[in-house]
Amino acid sequence: MRLDKFLSETTDLSRSLAKKALHREEVSVDGQITKNPATQVDDSSDVRWQGESLELTGPRYLMMHKPLGIECTTRPGRYPIVQELIDLPNVDRLHPVGRLDVDTTGLVLLTDDGQWSHRVTSPKKRCAKVYLATLAEPLEGEAGDRAIKAFAKGVQLDGEDKPTQPAELELLSPQQARLTITEGKYHQVRRMFAAIGNHVEALHRESIGPLQLDPDLEPGECRFLRPNEIAAF
Ligand code: URA
Repeated sequence: MRLDKFLSETTDLSRSLAKKALHREEVSVDGQITKNPATQVDDSSDVRWQGESLELTGPRYLMMHKPLGIECTTRPGRYPIVQELIDLPNVDRLHPVGRLDVDTTGLVLLTDDGQWSHRVTSPKKRCAKVYLATLAEPLEGEAGDRAIKAFAKGVQLDGEDKPTQPAELELLSPQQARLTITEGKYHQVRRMFAAIGNHVEALHRESIGPLQLDPDLEPGECRFLRPNEIAAF
């Protein structure tokens, strides 16, 4: 890999700032000050910037317990974003894999591996996502059975061409339900309950495909995925 690319991947420097650092003779490769951005280096090269040794990191994969009031996006707007809760270098390279609403809590995956992210979110993969919903209105008895059947068949959401894919609804108590969906339409869970005349007061994502939110993670905490968890997608 070119030295300027190596520098931009291992530090906060952009490619053009990396070139300036090279020009200022701040970079050495295997003990020699190097000014040429096209110098080829690999992970066996001893590359130092201002005397500090740099190492290439591979792609990163994390799970987070997203708290309320945080946005899943790559650019800060009205709310703080999930990356701001992560204490790692170059967090801006991580993107959330799919989104949770600001007022939804639970499992969020983050990575800088676009292909992996695509495998998790691609509609073709029909990856199951499990949500725990707290409902404003009790849902039980015949109305509960009708909701289970309606969600299993697919419900028509406002503004969509086609009904939702079959979803599994489990009623845990009159105002608590677990819903498994295999799509990721905008505000899908809230809109599905709205379509049957209810309202979601709180929403929490428990799992994505084979990955469950780690119960040891407090809201706002994250951890790296284990190799078997990464390979599960
Ligand atoms: N469905 C919603 O309505 N909100 C979410 O955050 C996720 C799924």
